[in-house]
Amino acid sequence: MQKRIGLMWVVALLFQLTCRADEGMWIPLLLKKYNLEEMQRQGFRLTAEDVYDINRAALKDAVVGLGREGRPFSHFCTGELVSREGLLLTNHHCAYSLIQAHSTLTDNYLKDGFWAYNRPDELANPGITASILVRIEDVTQQINGALTTGTNEKERAAIVEKLSRKLEEEAVRGTDLQANVKPYFNGNQYFMSVFRIYRDVRLVGAPPSAIGKFGGDTDNWTWPRHTGDFAFLRIYAGKENAPAAYSPENVPYRPATHFKIATGGVREGDFTFVFGYPASTREYLPSFAAEQLLEIENPHKTAIRTAKLKLIDQAMNSDELLRLKYAAKAAGVANSWKKWQGETKGLTRFGTVEQKRRLEAEFKTWAVGRVPYDGVTDRYEALYRERKELILADAYALEAGLGGAEIIAFARSLTDRLSEMTENDLLPASVDQQIRSFFKNYDAATDQKILSEMLKLYDRQLPNEWKPEAVKESGQKGGYDAYAAHLFHQSFFTDSTRLLACLERWKGVPLQEKLKKDPAYLLASSIADFRTLRISPPLREIENQLRELDRVWLAGLMEMQPDKRFYADANSTLRVAYGKIGGYSPADGIYYRPFTTLSGILEKEDPEIYDYRVPAKLKELYQRKDFGPYMQDGEVPVCFIAGNHTTGGNSGSPVLNAEGHLIGVNFDRAWEGVMSDVQYEPSICRNISVDIRYVLFIVDKFAEAGHLIREMELVE
Ligand code: ARG
Ligand code: GLU
Repeated sequence: MQKRIGLMWVVALLFQLTCRADEGMWIPLLLKKYNLEEMQRQGFRLTAEDVYDINRAALKDAVVGLGREGRPFSHFCTGELVSREGLLLTNHHCAYSLIQAHSTLTDNYLKDGFWAYNRPDELANPGITASILVRIEDVTQQINGALTTGTNEKERAAIVEKLSRKLEEEAVRGTDLQANVKPYFNGNQYFMSVFRIYRDVRLVGAPPSAIGKFGGDTDNWTWPRHTGDFAFLRIYAGKENAPAAYSPENVPYRPATHFKIATGGVREGDFTFVFGYPASTREYLPSFAAEQLLEIENPHKTAIRTAKLKLIDQAMNSDELLRLKYAAKAAGVANSWKKWQGETKGLTRFGTVEQKRRLEAEFKTWAVGRVPYDGVTDRYEALYRERKELILADAYALEAGLGGAEIIAFARSLTDRLSEMTENDLLPASVDQQIRSFFKNYDAATDQKILSEMLKLYDRQLPNEWKPEAVKESGQKGGYDAYAAHLFHQSFFTDSTRLLACLERWKGVPLQEKLKKDPAYLLASSIADFRTLRISPPLREIENQLRELDRVWLAGLMEMQPDKRFYADANSTLRVAYGKIGGYSPADGIYYRPFTTLSGILEKEDPEIYDYRVPAKLKELYQRKDFGPYMQDGEVPVCFIAGNHTTGGNSGSPVLNAEGHLIGVNFDRAWEGVMSDVQYEPSICRNISVDIRYVLFIVDKFAEAGHLIREMELVE
């Protein structure tokens, strides 16, 4: 009996290890092969072709990757088409910088919200792209076939690069499409995504931040959550529904299909899936890397940002204009800052390093005598040992140095651009533009304080050999505060009027000599040069070798565990994740239910705390119980959680029910499971979505923008 129970445990454990429900972000092309059966067992009612097909319209035609001109394939968010006329639903935080760009103190859309009640009022956002996937192709054979085993890593990268560009070109020749080949499974496989990329994306509607960012950075990455994190955009097309640059002549894009909106409600245990563009995960990291993440990268980067955020918060709380200027920047800084802390907590709690060590020990034994796997873990260990101090120095160079006070990066990039000019050149309009857009959201007094803090941290935390010269010198005479004050006083780059006036006067005269003596530029180039000369070459060398090891390691793991179903790390390509709606236990004795409601917003309300202010109109609707049809069990639902494996980039992704109808918009993950980029734990990893009925309620009752709802197709 004893023995049988023991055996059952082993079987159960094995099952857990090889087939963990909810884990994974899957390639739509391969859904039938790897997932469909399991999805259907969990309640999914569609076929693989309903999700992805190249011969007829499928759900994939309604999923949109949001990107920026110049790098349209690194999607910063996802969106979904919800009408025949190109209406696109995404997150408030995805549209945040667009909303901010259109805002002024008098028309403060970030604060008060924005709604276009007529099409001509929809606001253009130059530089934003909307990609719709046409097809995916497995090009592994073409690429791997051209690689011989003898090639070193550098040669290999060059061949892959060249071949990828060739395949991309051939795939789209004579069309209006764009293709992009990316490595999967640490470079063991390659797939090409072919897109049609639209370039006229307009802002249609956004709630005030007190709804769209309710709870602010305090609630960010946590559950229970009450954020109405949604906004509407619209894709416009040129002639014949084709991509075109912004033009008043463009017309709303007509998608091949759009999502139907499910109004029938959601229950605990319901099957859900998320269809979007996750950017990056690292599930197959070795223990040595996880260790450095926990001991070096996360804590140091977090500490640097804590110092930055303290000063930015002070500025934002002191003045409404500074709040507007710093809103988007602060959100960005705070977002990763908080995520790193959650990740560290989760990885520690679940003993990830230890788990990974056990896997490596098993691998090591298995790999004996098997080329090329033999010795992989030892090589990993040696390389990571060398990487340790480099990654610390690099974290400071990037977070506290080049990405610290903003004046540093600005002085550097502007000087570099101007240095390329010759005597007779006129100042390009783009330089003028760069200067104006920098100063639009800049406060020199705040930045000066940041500079001083960053230098103090840099100095305190690093051994001398890893400090750039100028950083070392900066504290020597009179301390860092005095140094920063002096720099801001002297520098050409800290004041827009002075800068523009000087450039005006110096038109056509070489500025190089003058600029290169500027104290901000001197500091910037000292840090940049130090990084280029001392940190990057050895680090890049190690990373090249690691890339090879990562590929071999994962190939080996797949061979060692032939029954395990592997998924490729996120790489900003379209994926499907699926999981059930369900609560979780964050700590002993506590259970979190998977739903929140409008009542909870009123419970959190605190007029004294910026993040918890509730708009008067929302309160009135609540008090009058003017909920319209947007109710479940007498309440207006606000957010829900489910076990979908998601990450950054999945923001704005459609969250769908078993029929493929839209039940919510994904926007976050719950604190205890934020570690899922490195290790997914089914018991606590949850994605957070705003319930589609809350979206409809706000649009209809709060914004009185019923015309948008009439565009949509509502189903039970
Ligand atoms: N945590 C979510 C994400 O990673 C939401 C971020 C919104 N930004 C914020 N700072 N609250 O994008
Ligand atoms: N908020 C994230 C984003 O912008 C999604 C949350 C996550 O990282 O899972 O993509």
